[in-house]
Amino acid sequence: MSDIVTAVGTPNIALIKYWGKRDEKLILPTNSSVSMTLDEQLNTKTSVLFSNRLKEDRVYINGELQNTRGTEVGERLVCLDILRRIAKDKRHALVVSENSFPTGSGFASSASGLATLVYAASKGLGLRLSGKEMSIVARRGSGSACRSLMGGMVRWRKGVKADGSDSYAEQITKPDHWPELMNVVGILSASKKKFSSRAGMRQTERTSILYRSRMAYVEDAASRLTAALKKRDFQTLGEITMRDSNNMHSVMLDTWPPLFYMNDNSKEVIYKVHELNESEGKIIAAYTFDAGPNPHILTLRRNVNKVTRLLDEVDAVQKVLKLSMGNGPRILDRSESLIDERSLKPFKN
Ligand code: DP6
Repeated sequence: MSDIVTAVGTPNIALIKYWGKRDEKLILPTNSSVSMTLDEQLNTKTSVLFSNRLKEDRVYINGELQNTRGTEVGERLVCLDILRRIAKDKRHALVVSENSFPTGSGFASSASGLATLVYAASKGLGLRLSGKEMSIVARRGSGSACRSLMGGMVRWRKGVKADGSDSYAEQITKPDHWPELMNVVGILSASKKKFSSRAGMRQTERTSILYRSRMAYVEDAASRLTAALKKRDFQTLGEITMRDSNNMHSVMLDTWPPLFYMNDNSKEVIYKVHELNESEGKIIAAYTFDAGPNPHILTLRRNVNKVTRLLDEVDAVQKVLKLSMGNGPRILDRSESLIDERSLKPFKN
């Protein structure tokens, strides 16, 4: 019987951002963060096979065999080592992963990719880990990935312990707590970012003067945002979200040499969102930007059309996605496998 396990998972968008590590190896953040797991319109599908026939781990992303020696992809595979250690299983893995969206362009492909990998590989090794345990493993591959192991709204606790055992993701609210909450994404550019998040945040920690003032405010903001989510208070959520995005992008600019992930089109969207909110007399739309130029605009379902119109007015917007809250990763049927077991390669499509 085939041991191939296939799972699908999704990115998340942070409303309180993670940008900095207190431990690089264990990937322990300097602050707690809060995110919304997105629905499957953007997704990663991953098949994993552990086999004695493999001499080393082999990873294909979007059809391309990855170089895992001394590369970021290789570093992230520590997740597989941890799972193998827990399962006391030495077999190597074949991983075939497809993103439905561009990799490395600020669409949280690492979050979606690592969360889905950990989910599929745990099952492939016969482990029955809790969401919390899987989030601790995924965190080692990519910090933000730990938040994609759960659906709904999720908080990644920064934790204080040196071994990272208290730095994990937990669900704050289930998807059905506030199903009206949507994320409307304007796709501006699918180009790869110049500076990876990993390298960028390292540079910020080392050089930004403003970073300290971010640290002084952000933990409290995460708690206030969590409370606003529980109360379904869009006004408070909107303001905290926009201010935290602006705050993170300020420390990026304050990094030496400076980091720019937003561009002039992103700024145009920011102005337009403030104009819209002003004309409505309250916050009905709240932007947030990760390490990329694409605006994610949080809004309530009844205002999605207004936000879509706003994005349509921006020439550079190529596509608009209307995303709702997702449920987190799930296992797919065997028939969805991406692995050709005979050749130990991806199926050719
Ligand atoms: C701007 O999780 O990609 O999206 O832990 O080094 O893999 P590593 O970084 P990563 O950083 C994400 C940064 C962010 C903000 C966020 O998602 O919280």
